[in-house]
Amino acid sequence: MIRIQRLIYYICILLFFVFISFIILPNLKVSPPSSPLDLDEQVTSFKPKTSNPNEEKYLSWFPHSDFPEQQEAFRNGLRLALETKRTIIAPMLRINKIYPWMPFEDLAKRYEAQDKVQLSKACEAGIKNWQTELEPCETIHDWFEIPWSSIMDLESIKKDYGIRIIERTTGYGWGVHESALGGNIDPSDVAIVDVMTYQENGTNWERIDTEKPIVKQSSFSNWIQSNFLAKQQEKLTEPLKYVLTEDKLMEIDAKIIQFGALSSAARYATTTSEIQLDLRKAMMKTRFNVPDQLTQLTKQANAIVSALGGKFQYSTLILNLSKLVALDARAGTMQNLAVDGGNISPVKSSTHVTSMEDLNDNSKKELMEAVVLEIFGDIPINQAISAAMPIKPSKLADLLDTGRSLTNPQERRQLLEACVDYHKKIETKYPVYYLMNDMDIAAETRPDIFGPLIEMFPCVFSTADMKKWNIQTENWAEGQAELNDPNVDYEKLLQPLLDILIAGKGIKK
Ligand SMILES: *[C@@H]1O[C@H](CO)[C@@H](O)[C@H](O)[C@H]1NC(C)=O
Ligand SMILES: *[C@@H]1O[C@H](CO)[C@@H](O)[C@H](O)[C@H]1NC(C)=O
Repeated sequence: MIRIQRLIYYICILLFFVFISFIILPNLKVSPPSSPLDLDEQVTSFKPKTSNPNEEKYLSWFPHSDFPEQQEAFRNGLRLALETKRTIIAPMLRINKIYPWMPFEDLAKRYEAQDKVQLSKACEAGIKNWQTELEPCETIHDWFEIPWSSIMDLESIKKDYGIRIIERTTGYGWGVHESALGGNIDPSDVAIVDVMTYQENGTNWERIDTEKPIVKQSSFSNWIQSNFLAKQQEKLTEPLKYVLTEDKLMEIDAKIIQFGALSSAARYATTTSEIQLDLRKAMMKTRFNVPDQLTQLTKQANAIVSALGGKFQYSTLILNLSKLVALDARAGTMQNLAVDGGNISPVKSSTHVTSMEDLNDNSKKELMEAVVLEIFGDIPINQAISAAMPIKPSKLADLLDTGRSLTNPQERRQLLEACVDYHKKIETKYPVYYLMNDMDIAAETRPDIFGPLIEMFPCVFSTADMKKWNIQTENWAEGQAELNDPNVDYEKLLQPLLDILIAGKGIKK
């Protein structure tokens, strides 16, 4: 009896060790000795593909966040393409209802989910699936995608720098399924690189931040836990701080590099060769800089610019009221104001406005002061002096002297014309402002917030004025072939790009 128990005991122990060695060996990357034949096989199957230097190679990335971040990702793509002589496979630009930065796999999923052809089918059929989970059917018309070449001039950058660009406009396949290349890519031809997601892809940048404390393994269960369970825990909530150096970049030989987010220039280094520096300078000034390729958008912007007195005759004031409210959120008076990262959608904006009504008088006053401070911090000193001087005899002086409130559209139009005239003919430093803010508030309608601003600068105008004067129309996008989904309110969704164009023609500081 006892012997049998012993025997069972030994067998168990034996089995346990066999089991453990199965777990440990692969984990420690100690491969069992292989026969010569095995080794041979491995060498042939793992032999790196001999790359043909003339074969075209590619790079791509996953987009995320607002226009500036997506533009920055493209800029970085251009830099990396110039460095590696790879062809860019550009994802389209997404407008509105954007999603923030995420780790590689999540960005990939989000990217695949925005396939509107598939999504529409699911929505029409009332099907709920992974895609409708990520892109709700209720908001399917609140966003759209458009090829970058419809918005920005890619031709001149291709020509000047010899960068090749193809756009992924049909399909959402990436990596081995790359739609731009017809799919069916050999897995060994694809390299995945994302230093914000995979620590093993990059080089340490800020040691202290990234190093995790080493947990002492005191027992077998700890060991199991740290080796088998750790992988399932912890989802990244913010990008890792690693960098891809130029050397590492150049070492990647695969036919396609699929990056994750490319919105951080600091994490993807390129050399400081003359042509790289030239490209960087160009991208700050003249190349891939303004979204001026949509004819109808440009036309609308020009009409507004012209009403404001023309190119370089006005200044733009861009106020982020959510930010000011958030900065000012003291003493708990505004704690229910959700100020969410980056995602200012029309729906959210209106909740902000309602929340702003909830501010008590004192908070409002603080906010107002913050606005004025922000503006004073923002304007050139000569404009500030001009604004502070008494207004010289003029149509503007007459109009302001009447003491009328100048709020109806005709009066406001008179005011604009008087302001433009004064700026052009009498005091060229006198500021005419075009106010843009995230809540779409016209300054004159909210004296509680903008009162002191208007007192100081009577010449403040906004989108609301342009709409009332019918200079900005509700259907300016009509006739633009790319903007052809009747369900999408393009005029509304493209307002941020319109603002960029108008701001671009204002007085440069
Ligand atoms: C980057 O890391 C991922 C995840 O570990 C890996 O699959 C990929 O091969 C790495 N890329 C390169 C170029 O080393
Ligand atoms: C406004 O500020 C908030 C809070 O800082 C920020 O999250 C948001 O991205 C900003 N919006 C714009 C349009 O810049």
